[in-house]
Amino acid sequence: MPNSDRVVLVLGGAGTVGSGIVKAFLDRGFKVAVISRESKRLEKLKSFISPSSRQNLVTLVGNVGSEEGAEEVKQALLKAVGKVTDVVSSLGFSWWQGGLPHTQTVKELHWVLETLILSTFVSWKTFFPLVKDDPSCTYTFMTGGAGEKLLMPGTGFLTVGAASALAFCQVLREEYPDIPCKLNQVKINTGVAPQTAWVLVS
Ligand SMILES: NC(=O)c1ccc[n+]([C@@H]2O[C@H](COP(=O)([O-])OP(=O)(O)OC[C@H]3O[C@@H](n4cnc5c(N)ncnc54)[C@H](OP(=O)(O)O)[C@@H]3O)[C@@H](O)[C@H]2O)c1
Repeated sequence: MPNSDRVVLVLGGAGTVGSGIVKAFLDRGFKVAVISRESKRLEKLKSFISPSSRQNLVTLVGNVGSEEGAEEVKQALLKAVGKVTDVVSSLGFSWWQGGLPHTQTVKELHWVLETLILSTFVSWKTFFPLVKDDPSCTYTFMTGGAGEKLLMPGTGFLTVGAASALAFCQVLREEYPDIPCKLNQVKINTGVAPQTAWVLVS
């Protein structure tokens, strides 16, 4: 299928890693859809991408981290683009270094898990059915090295959240060995700042 016939949904596409992915796909002629909870972040994304590819970017405001929000924005997405051929899931946060675990609150751990794993699960459950039965389709998870070790003192909750994202990818690989859609995981073993994301995916 030519790139111009493909529609890539980048979940977290207004974020640091996601915006680099969006730019890279647009520069290669794909149509790209991005959902963000904040219209301001979508406007910022539009100002980052090449003006010549702007007509291939579809943006929607919505919350893919809640079951109702994800379902609602899925309907709006399908109305706007008709179909999705590829999903890239780049949800979470760039960094967390709140300190030793015994100084943290349950609320903080809940926020970390909600941001890194619950949003990943909810959006996968919502958008995977759009691509799962087609061998030319893909679903790709962006993960990081923080799930395998403590990166620095005080980053423990980042490790807990990132480890659950890694475990989720492993579970999907093993639970869906024969699914027609290709399941991919891209693990970034380095820190990514807004500009370096573009270099990484180019
Ligand atoms: N940056 C790094 O150094 C680095 C390195 C290796 C791996 N990674 C991985 O790359 C992924 C993205 O990181 P990033 O640096 O791009 O983070 P980011 O700049 O904070 O962007 C994260 C995106 O996730 C979305 N999101 C967060 N919580 C959500 C929720 N509860 N419901 C719905 N959407 C939610 C945000 O959407 P809104 O636009 O709606 O706010 C945002 O666009 C993470 O999994 C991270 O572990 C990052």
